[in-house]
This record gives sequence, structure tokens and C-alpha cells, in this order.
Amino acid sequence: MLPLARIAKEVGIVLSGANALYAPVALRRDAELEVREEDLVLIYDDRFENYYMLGVLRWVTRYEPFLRRATHNVYIEHPEALNTDIVMPFTNALVEIYAGICDGSPLCGGRQGIDSNIYAPTPSSKVYKLIDASLLTKYLAISKAIHVGVHKYSKWRLPLDVHWVPYHIGVFGATGTGKSRLVLKLVEELSKAGFNLIVFDHSGVDYVPAAKKLGWEVVDANEIVIPPLVFAQTISELMGLSSSSTLKDYVDLATVCYDKLRRGEASNPSTCFQQVSGVVKSGGNKVQKYERWDKQLFREVLAIVARRFGARDHTVYKLTVLLDYYVPDYVFETMNRRSVEPIELVERALEKHVVVVDLSSERNVEVKRAIVASIASSVWSIIYRRLEPIKLGLVIDEAQNYACEYCGNAAKELETVAREGRKWGYFIIVASQRIAKDIRPGIRSNLGTVFFSRLQSRNDLQELAGYLDLGRVTEASLAMLSRREFYVAGLMNPLRRPLLLHIDEVTL
Ligand SMILES: Nc1ncnc2c1ncn2[C@@H]1O[C@H](COP(=O)(O)OP(=O)(O)O)[C@@H](O)[C@H]1O
Ligand SMILES: [Mg+2]
Repeated sequence: MLPLARIAKEVGIVLSGANALYAPVALRRDAELEVREEDLVLIYDDRFENYYMLGVLRWVTRYEPFLRRATHNVYIEHPEALNTDIVMPFTNALVEIYAGICDGSPLCGGRQGIDSNIYAPTPSSKVYKLIDASLLTKYLAISKAIHVGVHKYSKWRLPLDVHWVPYHIGVFGATGTGKSRLVLKLVEELSKAGFNLIVFDHSGVDYVPAAKKLGWEVVDANEIVIPPLVFAQTISELMGLSSSSTLKDYVDLATVCYDKLRRGEASNPSTCFQQVSGVVKSGGNKVQKYERWDKQLFREVLAIVARRFGARDHTVYKLTVLLDYYVPDYVFETMNRRSVEPIELVERALEKHVVVVDLSSERNVEVKRAIVASIASSVWSIIYRRLEPIKLGLVIDEAQNYACEYCGNAAKELETVAREGRKWGYFIIVASQRIAKDIRPGIRSNLGTVFFSRLQSRNDLQELAGYLDLGRVTEASLAMLSRREFYVAGLMNPLRRPLLLHIDEVTL
């Protein structure tokens, strides 16, 4: 038997029409003001010994038998005549049943544990509000858990099952709801639980200060090497070339050619793509002037390569004009300062558990995306080398800049991780204000666990409901939330359906 007297308070009874998922309840008068939306409750049905239904109370509604919505009555003109003897208000609510708790009940073969509930509670069954739900933890079959906060009313430190971390995590809410702090908490907890994380700090204010305090390594984004083909993509994005355009092919080829010239694998732009028999000569005939990335030299190489691949004069002209106008010189100059290979950074993260990439030093969002893409793709080469799970996560806050439909290579790489990463323990944590607009479908539909607070856009709740069981959480439930309050829904939540958490204090 659960010690109901100690951990719960009787608040009402089940009414007619209850089923295994929803139970309408009437609240006792003396408990009306004590129950709140989102309270955790137990229903005890006398038919079932040592079996309790666990649920969340929603739709707390006040009624009065005479003051009905669809009828007019005399008191509306004379409200002063309505005194407390005449009105007979009462309160009903709806319990959304999340699970059945077996405490050695014959219904579950004498086991202890939490199952999904398949029984409709009998009307008249008693309903108890949980004041202290900590006892529930022992019924959960979780081998390893992390904690980010407590259930808002029962103060239950909800264990979140780390088994589901590789199925990806999303954090959503309007500005100021506390997303970045929650993500920071997740990073701290996950690193303690043995995961490795690369945190991309878009503006350098959310994670860099914490990293300094907690002893995490910080790498400046402008030190990270961008591979030639990712750089080519960046240039094309800046020039506004669509991915199917042949102009983009010229940019790709020119970038590869320039990289060969830098390395001394070719000696001049017009012979870049000639088949060389035998081993490529390295260093021997390096042409000094190509040693550094330089926009003017790139412009020349681009024109020569484009011509060699059949571009007409007007195409070459268009390419150079777009390059001149849209690609700033510094994009090329900063390429020369880069010395940390993406794979090196990934290896550092595997060794030290958390590495923060400070993206604030990159001025250009296309370059920021290039860095995320380079790192995301280099993880695969380590996976293919080791052929074993690596327990590594990429943490993308302000994900509207990296995971959106038009976020180029970064979004493509993140989508690959979202789709294929889980079997390798390679996962993403994305945080952003909006869901549908900010996160492309291939990414958002693969988020196994979602934390959400007040949302910026009306459609987003519906969007989430498309792939997570949100039960009766509505726009109205979200509007009542304050800062640091998030629902958690999905795989890591042992009850799988939304529970309202108050996130732990996180200081920078
Ligand atoms: N868990 C928390 N602990 C302490 N302060 C918090 C917490 N969550 C939010 N805050 C406060 O709210 C502010 C906004 O939080 P932040 O995580 O930056 O929101 P968001 O990323 O959603 O815009 C923080 O500067 C901090 O003062
Ligand atoms: Mg933030």
C-alpha cells in the first residue's frame, strides 16, 4: 500500500463517463482552492487492490446549476439579490490518466512498477492530490537518469532516462523563458552521465562564461579549419547561388583548384584538373602567391576554371560581379588563420567531455554555418573509423540560424545526424523560439524528447502534437507558464506524456 495519508490529500471523486485515459472528477469543497492545473493525482479504485492510477489534473472548471450559459435569468439584472445562500457553485476537473502504478497488485502479477493504464476507474473512486511524489521514482525502471528540475507542484525530481538521449532533444520557448539555462543544465548533467558534448555558442554570452567557470575548454570559431568544399558552399551561399545552379559548380571547382594550388598539388589554375600520372607531387612546385587564401587571386582562378569548363564570357562576368559584391574580403582572410582541424576538435571533446565553440568571433552567419557543418560531418569519419557508439552530442542553441530550411550545409548535416545518428550514439540538442519556422521537418520530426514553454507561434503546439503525445496540454496551459517552467514530453520522460517542470537554478 502507498502511504496515502502521508504523501497525498483526498480532493474528490471520479464522476460518470471515465475511461482508461480520462476521468472527469468532482472536487471536494474544502479542496477546491488547493488543486491546481497540472497537479499530480492518484485515483484509487476499490476493485483493484494495490493498484493506483497516476494522472495529471487539468481543465479545473467552476460550475453553478442555475447560472447556465445558455439561459438568461432575472439575477443578471439584479446581481445584488444573489447571495451566497442562493448560488451553489462547485468545481469539476479532468484527470488525464498517464499510468498505472502496481504495488504488488494481482493485476500485474504481484510486480512493483509503472505500466500504462488499461482500466477505466469506477465512478466514486477517490482522487488524491500528490503532495510528495518522490516515492514514485522507485517504481520506474530507469537504469540511469539525469535531473533538470522538479515537477512544479509535487516537487518530484523527475528522473529523465538517459537511454533515450541519442534520440535527440529539442528545447522550445519564447525569448526569456529560460531555454539557454535549461540547455546549460542538460549539458552539465549529460557530461556527468558520461556523454561528450560540443556546444555551439552563437553569441558567446550563453555558454562561454559557464565554460570558464566549470573548466570546459573554449575554442574560438575563427581558429577552426573549414574544408574546401564546405568553404565553396559558403561562398556560393553568400553569392546567392542556388544549389542546382551550374554557377555553383564553377565555384566548387575553383575552390578545389585553389586548395590544390595552396598545397602545391597543381602549379597553375588552368592545369588544376589535368590528370597527373603517378603520385601527386607535393611541395616541389608550390607557387608562392597561392599560399594564402586571397579574394583577388580567387577571382582570377574562378574566371580561369569557369572558362576551362565551358563558361561563356557573360557567365564569367556574372560570377566575378557576384563575388565582388557579395563576398567580403575578410571571409577569405580569416581562412588563413585557421589551424584547428574539425576532427581535432571532436577528438578533444571526446577526451574532455565538453568543448564550447565560441561562434561570436565569426561575423558572417554563412561562415558560422560552415563551421557547424564541418564539425558535424567530421564526427562521421571518427565513427566509421571506430565503428562503435561515441556518445557525442552537438548542442545548437539559437537553432533558427543552423537548422532551418534555408540554413544550407549546417542544416543538411544536422538533419543527417537527426536521421542516422542514434545508432552511433551521435545526437543533437537544438533550442529555438519557434518550431515549424525555425527547424526543418527532417530535424524536428526526429526529436525524441521535447521541452517546451510559452511558445511564440500559435501553430507550434499543433506541430509538436503531430509527433508527440501532448494529451490535453493546450495554448491556454502554455499561456499560464512563467520563466523557468517547461513541459517535458517524449522518450526521456518516464511517463512519456507532458509533465510540468520547474527548472533548477542555473547560474552562469
Ligand atoms: N534555470 C534558471 N536559473 C536561474 N535563472 C534563470 C533560469 N532560467 C532563466 N533564468 C533567468 O532568465 C533569463 C533568461 O534566460 P535564458 O535562458 O537566457 O532564456 P532564453 O534562452 O529562453 O532567452 C536569464 O538571464 C536568467 O536571469
Ligand atoms: Mg537563449
